[in-house]
Amino acid sequence: MFTIGSWSIQQPTILAPMAGVTDEPFRRLCSELGAGMTVSEMVTSDERLWSSRKSQQRLSSLTSIKDRANRKDIRSVQLAGNDPEMMAAAAKTNAKMGADVIDINMGCPAKKVCKKAAGSALLKDEKLVSEILNAVVGAVDIPVTLKIRTGWSPELRNGVTIAQIAEDSGIQALAVHGRTRACAFKGHAEYDTIAEIVQQISIPVFANGDIYSAEKAKMVLQHTDAAAVMIGRAAQGNPWIFREINHYLATGQHLKKPSAEEVCLTLSQHIKELHYFYGELMGLRIARKHVGWYLKQHSHNAEQHVLATHYDDFRHRFNRIEDSQEQLNAITEFFNQQLLITEKLTGEIAA
Ligand SMILES: Cc1cc2nc3c(=O)[nH]c(=O)nc-3n(C[C@H](O)[C@H](O)[C@H](O)COP(=O)(O)O)c2cc1C
Repeated sequence: MFTIGSWSIQQPTILAPMAGVTDEPFRRLCSELGAGMTVSEMVTSDERLWSSRKSQQRLSSLTSIKDRANRKDIRSVQLAGNDPEMMAAAAKTNAKMGADVIDINMGCPAKKVCKKAAGSALLKDEKLVSEILNAVVGAVDIPVTLKIRTGWSPELRNGVTIAQIAEDSGIQALAVHGRTRACAFKGHAEYDTIAEIVQQISIPVFANGDIYSAEKAKMVLQHTDAAAVMIGRAAQGNPWIFREINHYLATGQHLKKPSAEEVCLTLSQHIKELHYFYGELMGLRIARKHVGWYLKQHSHNAEQHVLATHYDDFRHRFNRIEDSQEQLNAITEFFNQQLLITEKLTGEIAA
């Protein structure tokens, strides 16, 4: 479909980097369900901080799977920082550890990052942007990509200038979230600036922000002419969104929603992998978060009051479970009960 350096991206749907969400198990799942590429949670470029448990977990996914031939996913590691030399050194180390692509974070408004003038706060300093991009691109042989917002603020919407700096520095793809840094997550994403950026540069652009359905993905692609859409929050608890969008873009037809059996199987497998990846104690906690998102997504489909109440009751019960096998048993039991309730409701309606 399009290329980033020597990588060929088969589908126009990318999983956005999300701290606390896009860990190795979730990225693998999204790749299996059709994401053309996935991006890691941001990792600080300050290697002195890499011994923290959080950084170790984010980086361990690189060293845990070295067998490139058996992997279909492209391993993009996102770096956050503001010092060109440090960013270059961190990129080098990650490339050695097995990263396929380095992504630079200039799109995240998180306070912790912004206080150090990193992430989207860098967008105001175009000279520093250029220095960082040149240093990182010059340090590694693998492709370097960049994620930005449409600008610093609605008054200083300098996304087009930053995009040109990126292309001139050798950046090989650019993700653009259709809000400025000042907008945080308020209001709606706008796609006009993304369309303008696509017009001005020739590297692939990913349009990002508020894409929650296949129709919206198609609309945004048509409006911007971007190479792909990048999906963040809509994938939480709904990794099927990638195959749904891919199918809709290819055929114009909607794919059927996953059955309760498929959701149960996928969720159980996902939870097992979280237990394995994080260990029992932390795995249990991370699993609760993901299960909450799955239930939120799927309770939207459960219009019947009795089913919605069933979801609510279950979430409260699940959050108190302190054993990994019990978590898995509870999931299976929940879906069995859901099937029984659905059958009963269908029977009542038919009668
Ligand atoms: C929980 C959460 C964590 C995020 N972490 C990152 C991050 O680590 N790096 C980054 O560039 N953007 C981060 N973002 C921003 C997303 O990548 C994305 O740009 C934003 O959510 C808009 O896309 P969406 O409307 O599809 O969610 C994060 C967003 C959320 C909701």
